[in-house]
Amino acid sequence: LFAAVEMAPRDPILGLNEQFNADANPAKVNLGVGVYTDENGKLPLLACVKAAEQQLIEAARARGYLPIDGIAAYDKAVQGLVFGEGSPLLAAGRVATVQALGGTGGLKVGADFLKKVNPGAKVLISDPSWENHRALFTNAGFTVDTYPYYDAARRGVNFEGMLACLKGSPAGTIVVLHACCHNPTGYDITPAQWAQVVEVVKAQGLVAFLDMAYQGFGDGIAEDGAVIQQFVDAGIDFFVSTSFSKSFSLYGERVGALSVVCASKDEQAKVLSQLKIVIRTNYSNPPTHGAQVVATVLTTPALRAQWEQELAGMRNRIKAMRVALVERLKAAGVQQDMSFIAGQRGMFSYSGLSKPQMERLRSEFGVYGVDSGRICVAALNEKNIGYVAEAIAKVL
Ligand code: LMR
Repeated sequence: LFAAVEMAPRDPILGLNEQFNADANPAKVNLGVGVYTDENGKLPLLACVKAAEQQLIEAARARGYLPIDGIAAYDKAVQGLVFGEGSPLLAAGRVATVQALGGTGGLKVGADFLKKVNPGAKVLISDPSWENHRALFTNAGFTVDTYPYYDAARRGVNFEGMLACLKGSPAGTIVVLHACCHNPTGYDITPAQWAQVVEVVKAQGLVAFLDMAYQGFGDGIAEDGAVIQQFVDAGIDFFVSTSFSKSFSLYGERVGALSVVCASKDEQAKVLSQLKIVIRTNYSNPPTHGAQVVATVLTTPALRAQWEQELAGMRNRIKAMRVALVERLKAAGVQQDMSFIAGQRGMFSYSGLSKPQMERLRSEFGVYGVDSGRICVAALNEKNIGYVAEAIAKVL
């Protein structure tokens, strides 16, 4: 049965973890996967999460099956976070939200649903994009292409190219957009540029699918989510996948959601019924713990305030590490201007390093980043940053 099965390639991001764990170099640093570690290089357990978990343990509830679309209070809390508590859209019952297995789960449920309602459409992802976008939509049965995004010469976004590509795309084309903290480049478009994208999406009849995995890691929760309101104001149907992996440091709990904005309450009910079929036929219904923690934090004012503070702490520490990396690279003798690192947003820096340079970083120094040149600046700290800067200086 398996004689003809070929060895699949290692996952470009998670596969690095396997390699990193097997590396005996005591100085090794993992800047591959997008995971935030604190100033001591430790994965944090947020105090708000710990407090919510204590409440849940004391309540000691038995674990039945969740509804197919997840915990109702969780879905509602997600909607409040994504669309704003007082959103007329929510009052009108126009948003279908389902709990999902992380942001990836939200994307996959959305992709499978789209394959039913929009089967012939092409999917466009940014060039470059998160490695799994292409694989995920391809596996859902779509042909995946790219729209221009990164401009290496400008060290920024080729916005004219992006807009021209969207303008030339036929109605129904599914466009995957990074709501904030673009992965892998760290370059976002401005609110004014978003307005132009929204206009083209509407005029062309494109289907926007916003991936919002890093809300709160750019400028703040509301600031990073502001683009959602632009799509809402345009009066179009669109998709948003949400992840709490990073913002709650709950990576292994797989806590995310998919929200679909519909034209009416009636449509919402039908869309929700279809999303539930996708979920039921894939994994039946979602797990309890992580979503219960997130719902507890988001709906308990004191815990929510604590979360916002802890998230701000992560955001600010990443920004400080960006500035420090620029300084350390200079101190290590790098001649070229690396100040762009401080201007990028979110967890990642598209360093401009080539694949051979990234390979050398791994093999000679035990510094692991993605072959594309992406490094996770959220894993830098005072103890490893000097070593990383020296290593980068050497391969440059
Ligand atoms: C990343 O880009 O490193 C994260 O989103 C983790 C993942 O699943 O790839």
